[in-house]
This record gives sequence, C-alpha cells and structure tokens, in this order.
Amino acid sequence: MRKYQIAVLPGDGIGTEIVPPAVEILKKVGAQLDLGFTFQEALIGGAAIDETGVPLPKETLDLCKKSDAVLLGAIGGPKWDHIPTHLRPEVGALLPLRKELALFANIRPVILYDELVSASTLKEEVVTGTDMVVIRELTGGLYFGEKKREKTATGERAVDTLVYTTEEIERIARLAFENAQHRRKKLTSVDKANVLESGRLWRETVTRLAQEYPDVEVEHMYVDNCAMQLVRAPKQFDVIVTENTFGDILTDQASMISGSIGMLPSASIGGKVGLYEPSHGSAPDIAGMDRANPLATILSAAMMLEYSFKELQGAGKIKNAVAKVLKQGYRTGDLAQEGTKIVGTKEMGALVLAEI
Ligand code: NAD
Ligand code: IPM
Ligand code: MN
Repeated sequence: MRKYQIAVLPGDGIGTEIVPPAVEILKKVGAQLDLGFTFQEALIGGAAIDETGVPLPKETLDLCKKSDAVLLGAIGGPKWDHIPTHLRPEVGALLPLRKELALFANIRPVILYDELVSASTLKEEVVTGTDMVVIRELTGGLYFGEKKREKTATGERAVDTLVYTTEEIERIARLAFENAQHRRKKLTSVDKANVLESGRLWRETVTRLAQEYPDVEVEHMYVDNCAMQLVRAPKQFDVIVTENTFGDILTDQASMISGSIGMLPSASIGGKVGLYEPSHGSAPDIAGMDRANPLATILSAAMMLEYSFKELQGAGKIKNAVAKVLKQGYRTGDLAQEGTKIVGTKEMGALVLAEI
C-alpha cells in the first residue's frame, strides 16, 4: 500500500467549512484505490493567534515539513486585520509557510466547465472553451523584498521592494516552459518591463531560456495589457507565467471566467512538500453560513493527488465527480442561476462524495 501523510490546516472563516468535505473525498478515494492516507490537523492563521499567540506555531510548521503534502483552507479576517503586519495571518503565516517549504511555483488552472458557461459574468462566446494555467512565482517579487516603515517629519514612509535574481526567474520560467510543452505549447510571460528593472531582467531571462524550448511559442505581454486581454479574449492563453503580485491579482480576475473564485484551485510546488489551497480567501462575509463553494478546495485536493503523489487515477475520480455534480445542476450560491439547484457547502461536498 502506498502511504501518504497529509497535514490539514483549515485556518479561518470558510476555511473550516470547505476543508472537511475535501478530506472526506480524499478518504473515499484512498479507500477505493487502496492508498494509505493519514490526516493530521493543525492550527494556522487567526485561529492559531487566538489559541497560541502566533499565526504559524512551530508545531504546525514541523508537521507540514514532515508530511507528504499540506491541504490548507484559508486564513485571515477582520478580527486580525489590525495587528502589526508581520504578525497577521497573511504575512506571519502563509508567506513564511510558502517560503519554508520552498514553494516557488503556484499553479492556478483556469478551466471553464461546459456546465458553467452561462454562469460566467462574461459573454458565452468569449469564455466557452477557456483552458489556461497561470503560473505565479510565489517566494520572491514584491511580497518578499525589503519592507520598511519609518516616521518622517510630516507623516510616515512605507517601502516595499520588488526583487528578483536571474536564478529565481530561471526556475519559474523553466517550470512554465515544461508545463507548456505538455499543453498547447504557448507561453505568455507577463511583466512590466517598460517600467520596472526587475521586469527587464524577467523578460531578458525568459527570452534567453526560450532558445532551449524551440517547440514552445513565447510571447511577452505587459501586465496591464494582460488584465485587459483576459476579459477581452481569454482563449488566447495557454500558459501564463508571472511575478508574485501580478499573478495574485490576475488570477482573482481570471477566476470569473470560470464562473466564480470558488472554482479556482491551486497547487504550490517546488520543494519536497506541496501545499494545496483554493485561490480565494476566508470570505468573512459568508463565513459560518454554509454558503461557501467547496469545489476549489476539492479540486485542490485533486491537484495534490496529481502533483505530489502522481496518483492520476485518484485525481481523475475527483475531477469527474465534480463535473457530474455540476452537470446534474447543483450549485452553491456563488454560481446561482435560473434553473439550477442551490445547495449549501455541506450538501455540495456530500454530492461530490457520492459520485466518487
Ligand atoms: P475572499 O477571496 O475571501 O472573498 C472575496 C469575495 O469572494 C467575497 O465576497 C467572498 O464571499 C467570495 N468568495 C470567496 N471564496 C468563496 C467561495 N469558496 N464560495 C463563495 N464565495 C466565495 O477575499 P477578501 O474578502 O479580499 O479577503 C478576506 C480575507 O481572506 C482577508 O483576510 C484576506 O487576507 C484573506 N485571504 C486569504 C487567502 C488565503 O488564505 N490563501 C487568500 C485570499 C485572501
Ligand atoms: C492568495 C492570497 C494570499 C496571497 C494572501 C492571503 C497572502 O491572496 O493566496 O492568493 O496574496 O498570496
Ligand atoms: Mn490572492
């Protein structure tokens, strides 16, 4: 029996609602395919601050490091918005967790299920058939450069710096080129090389590497244009590779092509232990109401099977089950439309579980 230990970090807000169904689904897939999964839960984010005083307790980090993969819900919320930046859930837990696990690549597939074509806020003819993946650099760029805040005579001065080395750009670009080789062989590298020095290095590095991947068609696009192109003609994209902050923003935008941010899973890879989490946050406005869409988290669990464990059959089972439930017309509120059957988080989880 192949054995895998999974660290489970529900976190805050809807995190505690969307993670349990994903775990139940993994358990069922494990039982069917004779995979030895063990699950160990730990605290992270605001829940960890409340319990232990820090957002990323050492026990949590240690558990993640000795596990084979991590499943995370979401962290943060208004309750923890006013504590110093370096201690808040986002900067004090999620960023260091990604850095400690050396997860330099965040893979966010933007796929529009046929059943959800009319659920997108964009016109059907614009979005039908969209199938792209955004590869976001995750341990460098604007998030990880020097940060500073100081008093001035008249107020304050706050600094964030965007830093990249050749090596950091090379490794994410290689991963993106290889990804494109297994897809439609088109790579769009997104930067701001017309203004930023780091953008120039990014573009030069990608251009140099392109010679090693002659089968991949490469184009360079400025990030502002990319934001526009994503809603003008999303089907032009196959693989997008970009800086940390740009990737964060572009993927929230791109999520609407797939109908809802509740449909956008993610895999963070690069180190020994992969981290799998939905691309959305803790959704404080609907937390505790059984209204959150659990599918992004369930699809992130499928990505875990695919990327960390190479259990492609198990990943396929989950993806098929999700497609079947959507085909039957069941939707959480974020995808509500005339003629669909609206269900809560728990019921959506149970429906997918039943189709496994
Ligand atoms: P958000 O993604 O939590 O919510 C944005 C909007 O999308 C809300 O209206 C919310 O209800 C909706 N939404 C999000 N996920 C949904 C789902 N699964 N089903 C249905 N609707 C969903 O972003 P925000 O409001 O900007 O941030 C809230 C908190 O989450 C902040 O503290 C933020 O820092 C944090 N956050 C955490 C992560 C993470 O843990 N990876 C990611 C993004 C934001
Ligand atoms: C995401 C989130 C995080 C990010 C925050 C919560 C630190 O928005 O995973 O997309 O910006 O990376
Ligand atoms: Mn984000």
